[in-house]
This record gives sequence, C-alpha cells and structure tokens, in this order.
Amino acid sequence: MSWKTFPKVELHLHHEGAAPPAFIRGLAKEKSVNISGVFAEDGSYVFTDFVHFLSVYEAATQVLKTPEDYHRLTLAVLEQSAANGVVYSETFLSPDFCGNRDLSAWREFLHAIREAADQAERDMGITLRGIVTCVRHFGPDKAKQTARCAAETAGDWITGFGMGGDEGQGRQGDFAYAFDMAREAGLRLTTHAGEWGGPQSVHDALDDLRVERIGHGVRAIEDPALIERLVAENIVLEVCPGSNVALGLYPDVASHPIARLRDAGVKVTVSTDDPPFFHSTMTQEYEQLEQAFGWDEEDFAALNRSAIDAAFCTEDTRARII
Ligand code: HPA
Ligand code: ZN
Repeated sequence: MSWKTFPKVELHLHHEGAAPPAFIRGLAKEKSVNISGVFAEDGSYVFTDFVHFLSVYEAATQVLKTPEDYHRLTLAVLEQSAANGVVYSETFLSPDFCGNRDLSAWREFLHAIREAADQAERDMGITLRGIVTCVRHFGPDKAKQTARCAAETAGDWITGFGMGGDEGQGRQGDFAYAFDMAREAGLRLTTHAGEWGGPQSVHDALDDLRVERIGHGVRAIEDPALIERLVAENIVLEVCPGSNVALGLYPDVASHPIARLRDAGVKVTVSTDDPPFFHSTMTQEYEQLEQAFGWDEEDFAALNRSAIDAAFCTEDTRARII
C-alpha cells in the first residue's frame, strides 16, 4: 500500500520546524542574514542532539522577519503536508519567533498565517488550526506574555495553547499561571512531556497544567501506573516516532513504544514534529509503522479517528474532516 494519499490527521507540528531548508536558505539570501551553522554541506539542517537542535531551530527563525515571511512559510509548509495526504493539521505557533521575540506584532503575524491557511484550504483541501505555544527555556514570565497573546486571539482558529522547548528547564508547574490563563480564555491544552523528562513529567503535566493531550508522552511506557492513568483519563498522546528516532531516544521504529502503548489501551496519534529536521514525512511515518508493526489500513484509520476526536476544533470542522 502506498500511504502517500491516505487521508491523515496531524496534531503535532512546529510551524518553523516544518520549514523546508531551501525556503530558509532562500530567505537568508534575500535578506542577507547570516545563519551559518544551520545547514550541513548537503543542504539539510544540522544538529548533534536535542539541545543543539533547539538552538539551530532558533537560528533558522532569524530569517522570518515579517508577516509576509510567515505567509510564505505557511504555504510552503501546507504544500508539503497536503502532498503527504494530510487533510487536517494543527500547528504550534510561537509568538516569540514571529518578529524575533517582539510579541507586539503577534496579531499581524497571525493575520498573515490565517490568510495563507485559508488560501491552502481553498487550493489544496487542507484545514489548519493554530496552537499558541510558549517556549519552556524562555521561562515562566515569557510564557505568561505568550498566554496573553493566546488569550487575546483565542477563537475558532487559535484553538489551543501549548508548551515546547527544552524539557530539561524548570518544571511543568512553573508554567501553571500561563496555562490557567489560556484555559480561562477557552483554549484547549497540550504540553511536551515524557520525551526528555521521564514518566513523572507526564504526571506533572496532568496534575499541574491539567492538559488533555501530551506532546510525545512516550516514556509513559516506563510506568505501568501512568499507563493506567492515561487510559482512565482518556489522555491522547501526540506521538512522533521519526522525531524520537532521529534525536536518539530510541534506536529505531521497531524499538519505539507506540505499539505497546496502543495495545495497552492508550490513545495514540502519529505526527512528524519538525519533518525536514528529522528527514521524515507523514507518508514515511506510516510506511515505517507498517514495516515495524504490520499496521494496516484499519490500524491507521483508527489512529486518525483518535486524532480527529482529540483535535482542537469545533464539531462542525470535525464533521467535515474524514
Ligand atoms: N520539541 C520541543 N520543542 C520544540 C520542538 C520539538 O520538537 N521543535 C521546536 N520546539
Ligand atoms: Zn514537538
């Protein structure tokens, strides 16, 4: 089976992390921005580990200076997603990166992103929603400001609030104020946990931030009580197997816990995280899961059902997808 055209739902995608390298290189040239250290000789993104990946990611965002740049980025990203059969996607948007950490122009950036998303929906048949995302290693104060951006633009398009960045910095609970503000604004919540942090980081995310989805969360496999909790509380994991393998968390997809988590009753979904960084696409994720675990059309349809059920969108939108 070729999985390229199979209709897919993707819940975990970092907007800048999905930028094709040629797109970032082109903008760097256009604007004469020096981003040495971002690319390997063969033109792909270069990094040695997760923390280095985060710094290369941030270096690449320096070329994204105007709302127009984000308009172009959004079209470039959605073209890739649509070419891989993605029909619905949620993207992590960090006001910190829009406008090089100056949050004041957030609304203009968002307007440009939405315009591009509307165009892609008309032209490519892909629906996008945005999750405003704070960056953990920028600290709780910046996260509060980011949550304010999220709250001010919460609605039918900005539908969620989340946190990415370095899981090694601070604790989930340090960000409770930001998540409370987002919840009060009606936003749905997710955070990265259980990727670089162990099972306790997932417990903390559930207890302290009261999220309903977890970005990654795969290290729950190390704690049977946590697995039971995820099942009982109907928590959905945004699993990114290719990312976990590329960053060295597991040696290969066959050793990845996604199948064991699913078989234990945990709601798992599949996403790419930062596809060009990790040399992955949604098609490849499906191919590798088929190869490693023998998953077939029925398995992938169930996965997409879980994803659409957990999507941060209105019932009307949900009814239109798949
Ligand atoms: N993980 C955590 N934070 C991130 C990532 C990621 O893959 N990409 C950008 N910020
Ligand atoms: Zn991520």
